[in-house]
Amino acid sequence: MKNIVILISGRGSNMEAVVRALDAEQWPARIAAVISNKPEAKGLEFAQARGIPTAVVANKDFASRAEFDAALQETIDCFSPDLVVLAGFMRILTAPFVEHYAGRMLNIHPSLLPLFPGLGTHQQAIDAGVAEHGATVHFVTAELDHGPAVAQARVPVLPGDTEDTLAARVLIEEHKLYPTAVRLFVEDRLVIEDGNVRILDRAAEPTSI
Ligand code: GRF
Repeated sequence: MKNIVILISGRGSNMEAVVRALDAEQWPARIAAVISNKPEAKGLEFAQARGIPTAVVANKDFASRAEFDAALQETIDCFSPDLVVLAGFMRILTAPFVEHYAGRMLNIHPSLLPLFPGLGTHQQAIDAGVAEHGATVHFVTAELDHGPAVAQARVPVLPGDTEDTLAARVLIEEHKLYPTAVRLFVEDRLVIEDGNVRILDRAAEPTSI
């Protein structure tokens, strides 16, 4: 049984999608906690209503990024995570924090990485005139939005699209993509090799001597 800790900053719809899929599909995992850096994050209400432990580590209470990340790490580690899932967690993370969770922290980014890292991805896609846009789930590394990609979902960019219409189309796919990727991790089917992710057909056998 794997422990998953989910970090959110706001609405939490991706968190909700992961929680619902885990329950519906009976993954060998539990959501050990949902943690927010914003006390007012809407997603906390959903987690509490499901009986999931929640915590707030408010970045505004800390003088530096390093102090905040250290406090966040301490709180996360109280829940013995096998996997940390960033779901709309709007913080740039320090290198020691990222290193601590190397190979066991996933993020979802609303673009077809390596295109459009950072913020405002939907408007960036419209401005660039691309025909296709989407979302990427990737392992988190020190360079923002650059870690090994696990899976991507694609949507068309349609004539007349605004940032909002395009974001809504991508979000529908995010809600399928993130549970799929997290489930692959839970099933031990993700292997990082030379900076790329290989997906195993089935879980790796334990190595024997
Ligand atoms: C999603 O589009 C996600 O890809 C991005 O921030 C948004 C969060 O939405 N990182 P939600 O909080 O999961 O509803």
